[in-house]
Amino acid sequence: MSTNYNRYTVTAALPYANGPKHIGHLAGAYIPADVYVRYLRLTGKDVIFVCGSDEHGTAIPNQALKENTTPKAIIDKYDALIRDCFGKLGMSFDIYHRTSEPIHHQTSQEIFLTLYNKGLLTEEVSEQYFDAEAKVFLADRYIVGTCPKCGHTNAYGDQCEKCGSTLSPRELINPRSTLSGKTPELKETKHWYLPLEKYEPWLRDWILKSHQQDWKPNVYGQCKSWIEAGLQPRAMTRDLEWGIKVPLPDAEGKVLYVWFDAPIGYISATRALFDETASGKLKFATPRRDFSNVKKDDWKKYWQADDTRLIHFIGKDNIVFHCIIFPVMLHASGEFIVPDNVPANEFMNLEGDKMSTSRGWSIEMHEYLADFPDKPDVLRYALLTNLPEAKDSEFTWKDFQAKNNNELVAILGNFVNRAVVLTQKYFDNNVPERNALTAVDQKALDELKSYPAIIATSIEAFRFREATANLMDLARVGNKYLAETEPWKLAKTDMSRVGTILNVALQIAASLAIVTEPFLPFTSRKLKEMLSVADLSWSDAGNADLLKAGSKLNDAPLLFEKIEDAVIESQIKKLMETKQAVEIAQQPVVPAKAEISFDDFSKMDIRIGKILKAERVEKSKKLLKLQVDTGIDVRTVMSGIAEHFAPEDVVGKQVTILVNLAPRKIMGVESQGMILMASDKDGSLKLLSPSVEVGPGSQVS
Ligand code: 2FM
Ligand code: ZN
Repeated sequence: MSTNYNRYTVTAALPYANGPKHIGHLAGAYIPADVYVRYLRLTGKDVIFVCGSDEHGTAIPNQALKENTTPKAIIDKYDALIRDCFGKLGMSFDIYHRTSEPIHHQTSQEIFLTLYNKGLLTEEVSEQYFDAEAKVFLADRYIVGTCPKCGHTNAYGDQCEKCGSTLSPRELINPRSTLSGKTPELKETKHWYLPLEKYEPWLRDWILKSHQQDWKPNVYGQCKSWIEAGLQPRAMTRDLEWGIKVPLPDAEGKVLYVWFDAPIGYISATRALFDETASGKLKFATPRRDFSNVKKDDWKKYWQADDTRLIHFIGKDNIVFHCIIFPVMLHASGEFIVPDNVPANEFMNLEGDKMSTSRGWSIEMHEYLADFPDKPDVLRYALLTNLPEAKDSEFTWKDFQAKNNNELVAILGNFVNRAVVLTQKYFDNNVPERNALTAVDQKALDELKSYPAIIATSIEAFRFREATANLMDLARVGNKYLAETEPWKLAKTDMSRVGTILNVALQIAASLAIVTEPFLPFTSRKLKEMLSVADLSWSDAGNADLLKAGSKLNDAPLLFEKIEDAVIESQIKKLMETKQAVEIAQQPVVPAKAEISFDDFSKMDIRIGKILKAERVEKSKKLLKLQVDTGIDVRTVMSGIAEHFAPEDVVGKQVTILVNLAPRKIMGVESQGMILMASDKDGSLKLLSPSVEVGPGSQVS
């Protein structure tokens, strides 16, 4: 294994284009990857950063069913949404591609055929659950039943979420299809398997021996337990319509397993990057450096040359795919390098609970951007300072506010603002001369010099939380320096000293403009414009002479602004309301009652009547006393609707009334019938009125 790397291929997990993505996804993979790549670029490394939408798998057609549309419409909609959000949050991909693109289908089929032609895939016929009504084989997630371990009645075919056991569909008691609700039947089907167990010695050597030191303990630990539990052959094909066709003659109706094709998406995105840049026809690529003179085939270096360092940024649920299955595919094909590191993060929770879009407990990227369109860096910072690097972490809106108000505004923003505004005030926006240095000045400059290396060490070790804290510490150095030297007090007596102090402070600000770039790219840009600093490289940071005396500064807009309590409270309220709405929507409908005969039904005399009068009932919160014209007579009905309707809301309304219900005394009044209502999942009641006015006494049948 070469350690003298000459180029980097950095990937971030391809998000499923089956819905919006939340800030937990950002914290898991995308923000750390972006910081890392921006840093590498600043150090002059040859790096490509690839990502794209994962557009296959059962999740896509399933979402199409939910939204009553086609899989194609789903991927187009969510690819566009995710792509737009990533752009606005500053993700600096060289390409954000799509797995529905022809070049990806071709690349995936080629790799499948390479493995097949080498005789490395095994063919097996097995019995799998088939939904005869929906006419599809069921993926594990689409089968539910009773958990054999704990008796939970809604366990999935691959896992029981109650007791956490890993299951296979055949273990479930009373299995049901989630598509039709029917009991699925077992049917024979042929698939192609990757025999992972044959690669166990290679995996032991590559991961367990070679990467014990440099892989994160959470990643290494998961790999170790997988390998030690004994690896099994894994099917690389599925019976499904939506996906990449298996490129074999006897594979009608079969597609590649989504976890076979998705990671190949990194390779096809790289091919597309070079195809597009070589031809000058950019479609998905947004190359971040000079790609002139590249050739179509140059992509190969980034995936095949031993001196390329491949790094996958992912969340913890993707570890086995990126550390075991995909590397076995790459290694077995004999053509590709394998990752040198997979710095996976754990999960980020939200306000004390697991983040989940489907449960309505999440902050979606597009929602954040709609509410805080000018604050991408605030989110980046709040996530970076709280990344789930070693264990699960927690996002709270209060912490978000505190990170903004107490750190970005009070430390970084305040320091830069003071340095620039004082320069405006005393030196007409010109960088002043630096004269004789005192011990305090020298100490500040020494610290300035040391920080870029400190930050770099943390980034290179994938410790982005620590790197972000180091970055803020450099701003603290600047703040402390101004607090100690108090140039505003010296202005009347010693302008030369004021000039020296501001020169030192501005040099710190100029370095901050460079080192903030990976973390807070929008702020870095503003800072560079404010100070008229060019796009310098990382090695320029720490230099005490970035700004020449006499050079002109630009105006100083505030870098950050305070976030008020009311803004945070409304976000917390919104979160609670969304969760509640989702819970209500997901409540099952009340099950059907036992069957009745037509005779039973025809015994009921249901009519349309009109409410003539309505009044509240003393000492009852629930009851309204109604006078109803039933067409037969005018009668009194006591109805339990007072919490849902005011008397004036119902007077004059036509309603549905059961007129032959035996009278009964309620609060001392005889009630002669029952007004029929629709009661919604949230407990609200609605009157049942005819769609057009009908004559009183009309029969309902
Ligand atoms: O977990 C996910 O969202 C997957 N779509 C990640 C795929 S990563 C890679 F393999 F493409
Ligand atoms: Zn269980």
